[in-house]
Amino acid sequence: MPKKKIALVGGGQIGGVLALICAQKELGDVVIVDIPEVEGIVQGKALDIMEARPHDGYDADLSGTSDFSGIKGADVVAITAGVPRKPGMTREDLLDTNLKIISNVAKNVKKYAPDAFVIVVSNPLDAIVYAFYEVSGFPKNRVVGMAGALDNARFRTFIAMETGLSVQDVSCIVMGGHGPTMVPITRTATVGGVPLTDILSQKEIDAIVKRVQEAGTELVKLYGKGSAFFSPAAAITEMIEAYLRDKKRVIPSAAYCEGEYGIDGYFIGVPAVIGAGGVEKILEVDLADQEKELLQSTLEKVKVTVSETGL
Ligand code: LAC
Repeated sequence: MPKKKIALVGGGQIGGVLALICAQKELGDVVIVDIPEVEGIVQGKALDIMEARPHDGYDADLSGTSDFSGIKGADVVAITAGVPRKPGMTREDLLDTNLKIISNVAKNVKKYAPDAFVIVVSNPLDAIVYAFYEVSGFPKNRVVGMAGALDNARFRTFIAMETGLSVQDVSCIVMGGHGPTMVPITRTATVGGVPLTDILSQKEIDAIVKRVQEAGTELVKLYGKGSAFFSPAAAITEMIEAYLRDKKRVIPSAAYCEGEYGIDGYFIGVPAVIGAGGVEKILEVDLADQEKELLQSTLEKVKVTVSETGL
């Protein structure tokens, strides 16, 4: 079987780590595309990773370019292009800059990789993935935003840290927009099948929820001049793998809703089934009244940012 082709649009901090993990997992050959000003850097990252391969013996070819035609025929396109937050900024502050970038990227992806499964990562996520969808005209099952996979991983991480139990056994869902209004669903969280509510006090759970909602900001503050990159790269890889290996993984993702949860015409974090068909299905959790209210308020926030795109 020919190797799959993974195109990374954006070769910054996330793109570099993502290229490494995709190669290590032998998910396919990787091409990194970025603007001409940093062409040397993306070529360097690709060559550097190529030279790391002999240690573990993974056969993936990597290249870097500023020529968009390099993504030609890609099976998956992961878009991290754009600027990250600096301390004191909200994700929404990035809208104007990243909207211009995503519009150009969408046109080029449509031109060179019209059959790809596209994972959008740039912020403000729920509006930028919407913009990609509108400009590219791609079908809804082949456009998804990566946010929930990361928010969920953070939720699992903090539960594991607080309980002292294995992160591997923590299972939970985070829904809603990618920002402080996101909705970690604590009621259904479990560790090894045991309800979280039987393990931790409500006060401890509330503290975890707050930390998850602010986890991106916590890292922006620590880094001082950029946002998280290891954990986003790992989260994107999980989605790429689910698609390429048709795993039918249930991954919270910003998926286009058409009636699910009473949401119509917006991308927002929901439990999505990801397999060879892209976003194959959205699973509908029977939410409690308070969760419904929280989902509604995060949706309102997403709607405002989407309206600011003018699309
Ligand atoms: C974060 C950025 C990637 O949450 O939005 O870290």
